[in-house]
Amino acid sequence: MLSDMDKILIGEEELKEIIRGLGERISNDYKGKELLLVSVLKGSVIFMADLMRAINIPCRIDFMSVSSYGAASKSSGVVRIIKDLDNVVEGKHLLIVEDILDSGKTLSYIRGILKTRNPESIRICTLLDKPERREVDINADYVGTCVPNEFVVGYGLDYNELYRNLPFVGVLKPEIYVK
Ligand code: IMP
Ligand code: MG
Repeated sequence: MLSDMDKILIGEEELKEIIRGLGERISNDYKGKELLLVSVLKGSVIFMADLMRAINIPCRIDFMSVSSYGAASKSSGVVRIIKDLDNVVEGKHLLIVEDILDSGKTLSYIRGILKTRNPESIRICTLLDKPERREVDINADYVGTCVPNEFVVGYGLDYNELYRNLPFVGVLKPEIYVK
């Protein structure tokens, strides 16, 4: 797996530091509020697991799964719900937890659906942001860090469902994609 990597963009220590900072901000901002963390499967599971432990106020978690990408590394633009939330959203403060904000289509779709269920508030927390790639008008309220316009894997992010278990975020060698 390591030999497939071209370079490491964000190492383990840096990820820890980023998440510690996000957890602190979120804990301060939502003090005394009913916080529901909504993880978008599957890419955000590792981030979610670390982020929730960096949050020191009571919170609930839930999971939602949508499809937008096939095996290809480019968006098909198709988004649909595969798994919906278990929790009632009405009156809750929702924080959508995503691995990466790319074109913005996925989050825009998810936010749109959740809004219709009358939550008290909705915000977005993304580990990674690729602002250059945005196609719809959406931004995250909490951003771990921005990454250049390159396809990244690791720490939950996949290429063809692989590489999610890498403990860092990195870029694959170009020849991996053309195989
Ligand atoms: P968007 O709808 O284009 O913003 O895409 C968001 C989703 O696409 C993310 O949740 C990821 O699953 C996937 N994605 C976008 N860019 C990358 C990348 O560089 N590496 C891995 N997955 C990505
Ligand atoms: Mg994803």
